[in-house]
Amino acid sequence: MRVCIVGSGGREHALAAALSATAEVVVAPGNPGMAGLACSDVPPEWIDADLWVIGPEQPLVEGLADRIRGRGRLVFGPGADGARLEGSKVWMKEVLAAARVPTAESRVFDELEPALRYLRATSGPWAIKTDGLAAGKGVLVTGTREEARRDVEAKLSGKAFGDAGRRILIEEALSGQEISVIAVCDGRQAYPLDCAQDYKRVGNGGTGPNTGGMGAYSPVPFASSEIVGQVMERAILPTLHALSKRAINYRGALYAGVMLTEDGLKILEFNVRFGDPETQVLLPRWDGDVTATLFAAASGALTDDHAARFSAPAAVCVVLASPGYPDKPETGAPIEGIDEARAVPGAHVYAAGVATGPDGRLVTAGGRVLNVVGTGADLAGARRLAYRAATMVRWPGMVSRSDIADIAGTAGTDGGSS
Ligand code: AMP
Ligand code: GLY
Repeated sequence: MRVCIVGSGGREHALAAALSATAEVVVAPGNPGMAGLACSDVPPEWIDADLWVIGPEQPLVEGLADRIRGRGRLVFGPGADGARLEGSKVWMKEVLAAARVPTAESRVFDELEPALRYLRATSGPWAIKTDGLAAGKGVLVTGTREEARRDVEAKLSGKAFGDAGRRILIEEALSGQEISVIAVCDGRQAYPLDCAQDYKRVGNGGTGPNTGGMGAYSPVPFASSEIVGQVMERAILPTLHALSKRAINYRGALYAGVMLTEDGLKILEFNVRFGDPETQVLLPRWDGDVTATLFAAASGALTDDHAARFSAPAAVCVVLASPGYPDKPETGAPIEGIDEARAVPGAHVYAAGVATGPDGRLVTAGGRVLNVVGTGADLAGARRLAYRAATMVRWPGMVSRSDIADIAGTAGTDGGSS
């Protein structure tokens, strides 16, 4: 079987590595750090394949899956209709309300004055969100009214995120531990992967701005299979049902960002794809034929045999980012030590924002540059390995968090608790 994986980041690198076990894989466009994998600059719909797996949200929201399906081909990834769950947070909230899925209270604003009035009338803390896509950076969580006001003004004026930000939601900020539960869906059925937790803030201890994700680990010691079952029963399955009532046949990954609050679980967000960097820690633990599962989902034919099993070993991913990320990443620095890091047994280095420099060596070319993953018998071992491999990689000003998976058996990340 030939599979075309669409995208160019660490998530697509991890997908390509996993699917290569049972398929011939081409990544479109991929990146020059995807050692040993076939990459192609040809538009993905022109590539000949039996299955397309679309990694990022943007092409899903823009209808790439529809265009490929329109030619009678199989795609793992929702059409533009289902992708609105991520493309419009306002629409997502409507679907959640219709499906009675527990979520944070929120209000929608298109104009400044009513939004500011609302801020004055409420006590916070607030989560202020752009309606449209913002590469994981469109949310500010704050308890400070002045900061909230500035953010609302920047978003509604279009200064912060252009048109994607001109409509906003102001939500009650929830506190608790945040987990990611991703399910593989075939339009009717859905099977969950194991839980993962990612680290959204750029700095240690959950400080600094939100990013696309600075690291992740799995399994999550405090998120039992019972919690995953609850996320399926209360959020993922009702949402799939609500979509199908709207004639949306959702085939792809559905990612629930879940806050475990004192009042039970609440959905913070849905993503219509595999998480990044969660995928980088889930796929090395996935015990089974990933290609067959995604093919069955794309065909609308998932069975219990495709329920993903996760092997006991743990995985930890440390993201290596450019200086200035997430605001203004500085790029173009030559990267050293990737081969040494890749040679560490049990470690993987997935490439994201990299390019080929003038002398043929890899240089940094984006905010999140590399994902270093360690696997091991337990989280502590996986963590040691991830950091051992990560310290072999260098470029001037490289940024990473040193507290990924530093949980010492307790619930201790910044996952939404700030
Ligand atoms: P989103 O873009 O909706 O995925 O939100 C990005 C991140 O912002 C989430 O993963 C949380 O860490 C945080 N966040 C979003 N909504 C809330 C909320 N209502 N309360 C607290 N934190 C939130
Ligand atoms: N890790 C969060 C995301 O993929 O959006």
